[in-house]
Amino acid sequence: MCGIVGIVGTRPVAPLIVDALKRLEYRGYDSAGVATLSEGNLDRRRAEGKLVNLENRLEFDPLAGNIGIGHTRWATHGAPVEVNAHPHFSTKVAVVHNGIVENFRELRTELQADGFTFSSQTDTEVIAHLVAKGMKDGLSPEKAAQSAISRLTGAFALAIMFGTDSNLIVAGRNGPPLAIGHGAGEMYLGSDAVALAPFTNRITYLEDGDWAVIRRDGMQIFDLDGNTVERAQQTSVGSALMVDKGNHRHFMIKEIYEQPEVIGHTLAHYVDFNEQKVALHEMSETEQPIDFASLDRLNITACGTAYLAGYTSKYWFERLARLPVDIDVASEFRYREVPMSKSGLSLFISQSGETADTLAGLKYCEAEGQHLAAIVNVRESTIARSSHSVFPTLAGPEIGVASTKAFTCQLSVLASLAVAAGVQRGHIDRERETKLVAELSEAPRYANEVLKLEEEIRQLAHSLANKQHILYLGRDTNYPLAMEGALKLKELSYIHAEAYAAGELKHGPIALIDEEMPVVVIAPHDRIFEKTVSNMQEVAARGGKIILITDPRGAEEAGMDGAELIVMPSMPEIITPIIYSLPIQMLAYHTAVHMGTDVDQPRNLAKSVTVE
Ligand code: G6P
Repeated sequence: MCGIVGIVGTRPVAPLIVDALKRLEYRGYDSAGVATLSEGNLDRRRAEGKLVNLENRLEFDPLAGNIGIGHTRWATHGAPVEVNAHPHFSTKVAVVHNGIVENFRELRTELQADGFTFSSQTDTEVIAHLVAKGMKDGLSPEKAAQSAISRLTGAFALAIMFGTDSNLIVAGRNGPPLAIGHGAGEMYLGSDAVALAPFTNRITYLEDGDWAVIRRDGMQIFDLDGNTVERAQQTSVGSALMVDKGNHRHFMIKEIYEQPEVIGHTLAHYVDFNEQKVALHEMSETEQPIDFASLDRLNITACGTAYLAGYTSKYWFERLARLPVDIDVASEFRYREVPMSKSGLSLFISQSGETADTLAGLKYCEAEGQHLAAIVNVRESTIARSSHSVFPTLAGPEIGVASTKAFTCQLSVLASLAVAAGVQRGHIDRERETKLVAELSEAPRYANEVLKLEEEIRQLAHSLANKQHILYLGRDTNYPLAMEGALKLKELSYIHAEAYAAGELKHGPIALIDEEMPVVVIAPHDRIFEKTVSNMQEVAARGGKIILITDPRGAEEAGMDGAELIVMPSMPEIITPIIYSLPIQMLAYHTAVHMGTDVDQPRNLAKSVTVE
């Protein structure tokens, strides 16, 4: 989703801004632009598509200036064409914006009546004109910005630059994140600390309702009444790494291959392998430990792949800890006015920690007085900072838009939490805990084993390429995994894919089965394997082509002549969702590669969805 960069610097900033925008590419975007101020002139270059188009434009037509703002745009209002790309200009004002100005129609009507003409279909342009109007009415640039920001409703992060001041950027935040970077004689602004990593690791995060005046020698943060507010400066960890693909063709496959290591790191954070027990990490002074024994309900809210990690854990928490779980997609949860139990725990799962709907769900639960817990990959994120208890995934930066290693790390945390809950609630005795911990500790080894199936899966993927529709089936924890498989495939290859609980097939989807419909069945040999075999037989009897992901015993007992098999090693049940994620990721990846789609940045998708 849109990325913002700003620099009040002492050297030409346009190339620096483009480099910083590259570090935000992972968020997803469809056009980009940069504006600078040089000798009193605001000027900009914008281009549709990837940043390379903007770079080409800047090469032929460079921008001078030691102060500038830049943007990668993920289209909401108006098509992804150059005229809608940011920065947007009004008289002596340039603006970049992430989010949605919900009252832009009424503001545009008002500004048009005041004689302002609009050159884009965006909601953002009203901000530029509002600020220009304030300045025309005699306000200072800062006051004009404050007044404009106070009139906006909706979610926004924005940066404003002024033709009248070469030492000033105003930033404002209400929703999407904004980080201010402190340099030596230079100041920076970015959607996250990763964008600013080449310049500084000293970061101040704006909170909702904050706006800031940023000059070369420092910055000041205010609330909307103009009172100064203090926000702590932090040292950003880990972001200085320039994440690259190494020897891999795409970030996604690199991240798939990182899984044995990051799953191991993450598990080691929650499990004491020497003592053979779950040992939830020590919390900071400001965090609150969770007493699972006193809970009567667990409410999990998330979006996309993180939601499917949560869905998987419902089976674990209910079975291992006898703790009832409600699981919701955040966009539905936030408006449903759900009655919350006084003894409940609200858990939010998010790779980025910035997803707008998940954050809104958290705010709802906060207002309901819930204990708020979060599983996040970005420790400095808003969701992490807003929660009482934080459980980090140690996946490292995830760049591929389609989540892989963050998902298996979320599952690793959730499995550990479910065992901890089972122990605390008296449903898992010491002997069983020891066994479960030993089983969890095997996950990195099995993940490594399964990566060796890549070539086989790559060949299988060729038979999926160019299909119109694909069905995924699974039971128990393999049902959410089937949903994750279908999600991965459709987002990467643009093939329509749907997942069903295998037992639900006969209630409708079976009507779709014919020779043209591949059906991917995820079925390790478990307690209910026989039931899934029956469902596969129903598919086979109607000519459906089956791809069965199972283990040696499942392959032998399925008796499915003509089915394609991906044979996984036999493994303990608790780690199957983690390890079976790998073949479904590789299947989607290789189908997409074969079809030639943009694997790391699929069309229309954003990594961090900061609008609702
Ligand atoms: C987007 C991403 C998905 C991700 C979802 C939730 O849709 O493309 O990969 O699962 O957002 O993101 P979060 O950062 O909250 O996990």
